[in-house]
Amino acid sequence: MEIIAAVANSVETPFELKTLDLKEPGPDEILIKIHASGVCHTDAAVKQQHIPAPLPMVLGHEGAGVVEVVGASVQGYEVGDHVLMSFDSCGSCPACKRGYPTYCANFVELNILGDLVTGTTRLSEAGQPINGSFFGQSSFATHAVVTTRNLVKIDKDLPLDVLAPMGCGIQTGMGTVINTLAPSAGSSLAVFGTGSVGLSGIIAAKITGCAKIIAVDIKQSRLDLAADLGATHTIDGSDTQKVVTQIHAITGGGVNYAFDTTGVPAVARAAIDAMCSQGVLALVAAPPGGTELSIDIPMTVATGKTIRGVIEGDAVPSEFIPKLIEFYRAGQLPLEKMITKYPFDQINQAFNDVETGKTLKPILIMPN
Ligand SMILES: NC(=O)c1ccc[n+]([C@@H]2O[C@H](COP(=O)([O-])OP(=O)(O)OC[C@H]3O[C@@H](n4cnc5c(N)ncnc54)[C@H](O)[C@@H]3O)[C@@H](O)[C@H]2O)c1
Ligand SMILES: [Zn+2]
Ligand SMILES: [Zn+2]
Repeated sequence: MEIIAAVANSVETPFELKTLDLKEPGPDEILIKIHASGVCHTDAAVKQQHIPAPLPMVLGHEGAGVVEVVGASVQGYEVGDHVLMSFDSCGSCPACKRGYPTYCANFVELNILGDLVTGTTRLSEAGQPINGSFFGQSSFATHAVVTTRNLVKIDKDLPLDVLAPMGCGIQTGMGTVINTLAPSAGSSLAVFGTGSVGLSGIIAAKITGCAKIIAVDIKQSRLDLAADLGATHTIDGSDTQKVVTQIHAITGGGVNYAFDTTGVPAVARAAIDAMCSQGVLALVAAPPGGTELSIDIPMTVATGKTIRGVIEGDAVPSEFIPKLIEFYRAGQLPLEKMITKYPFDQINQAFNDVETGKTLKPILIMPN
């Protein structure tokens, strides 16, 4: 079938809206009519080839839409169901069997590298394959063929064009705090980088009852929003030494938990130094491959600190996204304050605006 998709051709050229051919769904697949898709920094990281998936590719991994065709052997879905799309996983490797699909042995193949590497081409242009199935969806398009592993069915009264980013950015930020760091009530937490992932972490820190929630960023507009969403303190992050001193002063000796979303080595190091003994730092950013963080080994040993990486907030989307929806319905997750909607053909403007800091979380609205 013919669809319209935004193709990332190269680092230098903008996204190009093209008519592509999408293979009809097989017996275990579903065709989704996409209504909206969030834009995540990881899309930009692939477009810029900091994450080298083969181009030309259709990116997008925060899709939200409606089921249009259900394969004969698919259970539990019917035409008209509303769904959010999240990351994909294999379901059969040791990590998936342990209940940690975020560390699926096939995560990179299923989510990042795309069809051209896994050999299951779904998209083409005049017979030439186009890379797709980014995070099992490639949602910068009017339609996607997906399996059910990365789908989450949601109630039809919920706004698809607001909830779309729950599939990645919001899940990552809130999951890293709620599932991974799991701060005890009354503890202190510092978030370095308050884009949509970091701000979601701040919202989660407020929900979990952290007493001191410290936001660090180099953009004042982001810090203002962080304060609105629950940060008790905001710090200009331009001078990392000063950041460490200020966090020690605010907390009286260091923060219990730190969350780095910047991927900047000096910032992650400041996050370590800003923690008290037995502090735990979560790293989630996707800087260029080979980016390294230097730590003081004896000091880290002596203070019993933990540094760990986190994918997608350690979440099982089918279990965690319904919790996010409860927070949304209760007014505790005011997504409307973070998003800006753009018509699909304004995709390049959306990427520009997020780069300059004009907008925080663009949502692309697909044509009817
Ligand atoms: N691990 C995962 O599963 C996962 C999931 C989603 C996103 N990510 C990654 O997480 C990161 C954050 O995503 P996002 O969408 O929130 O990105 P974003 O670009 O919107 O946010 C990053 C924030 O960091 C701030 N920043 C940059 N340099 C800084 C510095 N030196 N000091 C303080 N703040 C600084 C920016 O001003 C910005 O507000 C990206 O690298 C993205 O690729 C990872
Ligand atoms: Zn993402
Ligand atoms: Zn797996």
